[in-house]
Amino acid sequence: MIATPKLYCAALVLALCAALAAPAGAQTPAASPAPAWSPPDASKLGDDAWGRLIRYGRDLQVNTPALIGPEQKDPALRYAGSNLTCQSRHLEAGAKKFGLPYVGVYGDFPQYRAREGEVGTIEDRINGCMTRSMNGKPLPLDSAEMKAMVAYIKFLSTGVAVGAPTAGRGGGAMKELDRPADPVRGKTVFADNCVACHGADGQGKRAGVVGDGKGYLFPPLWGPDSFNDGAGMNRLISAANFIRSNMPNGVDWQNPVVSVEDAWDVAAYVQSQPRPHKADLDKDFPVRTEKPVDAGYGPWMDGFDATAHRLGPFTPIRNAVKALAMKKQ
Ligand code: HEC
Repeated sequence: MIATPKLYCAALVLALCAALAAPAGAQTPAASPAPAWSPPDASKLGDDAWGRLIRYGRDLQVNTPALIGPEQKDPALRYAGSNLTCQSRHLEAGAKKFGLPYVGVYGDFPQYRAREGEVGTIEDRINGCMTRSMNGKPLPLDSAEMKAMVAYIKFLSTGVAVGAPTAGRGGGAMKELDRPADPVRGKTVFADNCVACHGADGQGKRAGVVGDGKGYLFPPLWGPDSFNDGAGMNRLISAANFIRSNMPNGVDWQNPVVSVEDAWDVAAYVQSQPRPHKADLDKDFPVRTEKPVDAGYGPWMDGFDATAHRLGPFTPIRNAVKALAMKKQ
């Protein structure tokens, strides 16, 4: 049915308004609404081998410290080096739009990984998280835990074609600043928006007591029990977008609370704080022109120093890297 011109115009205006209200860079084209976001629910699966494995995969996301953390009763299963959960950043057990979800991730692997400079499997990727975000040890490839995580990621990717772009992946892609992010200003943003949960000292709040394996109500954002300096969350662009789309916890990408500018600055403040160090970071991104502009650790070949890579602005760095890559061809 063809709508009257008047109605048609009104619909167009509405679509335009919706597009303008969306955070910059949200991957929603103005005229066509994003496909429904409806990841499947693991609790609806039966009590069979598949259902049990998927639910174990989900439990590993949510109860990570008790199952594979440093306070797990069985020392052989202490793979994670911190008491964070996978869900600390893969929100809603990997099912939240722009909360670093797993939806659609399964079909991406194997894939070329710039960080390693070679093609990696989904197991390699998970172990990247284990040794960086979780500051721990790799899961053995034949372990029940690895099998359950891979199966759970496949389950959440149900219905997404291999190679299909999934709107809602990652943490978003908001506008960048044309000045360096400002950790001093970010400290004020932190005081106003984050300390209620993460604490003025950034150490979060335990669910119970040290040793009980219950992890945190609010995770620490720096210090010995946080992600290490090789983690994706330690890169400014990733962290600022994640914060803008998801923090304070409970916020969603369509109704952000922290402004774009504040998100960049508060991310810079969090990243200016001490955290565990991962060895051999200089071996990451062996093809240096593929190194992300916001990787805060060297070596770099683009002539920009550590501060520029940690705080931006990133366009001049991108241009320098592009020029370098052209020269090499
Ligand atoms: C209402 C409480 C609350 C507030 C306020 C809050 N957060 Fe969070 N934050 C959380 C929780 C809870 C999680 C972990 C999510 C989960 O476990 O489901 C989290 C996770 C995070 C993570 C990921 C940590 C990791 O290990 O990867 C970052 C980064 C973060 N918050 C930054 C911030 C910043 C910056 C602010 C202020 C702008 C903020 N948060 C405000 C509760 C909060």
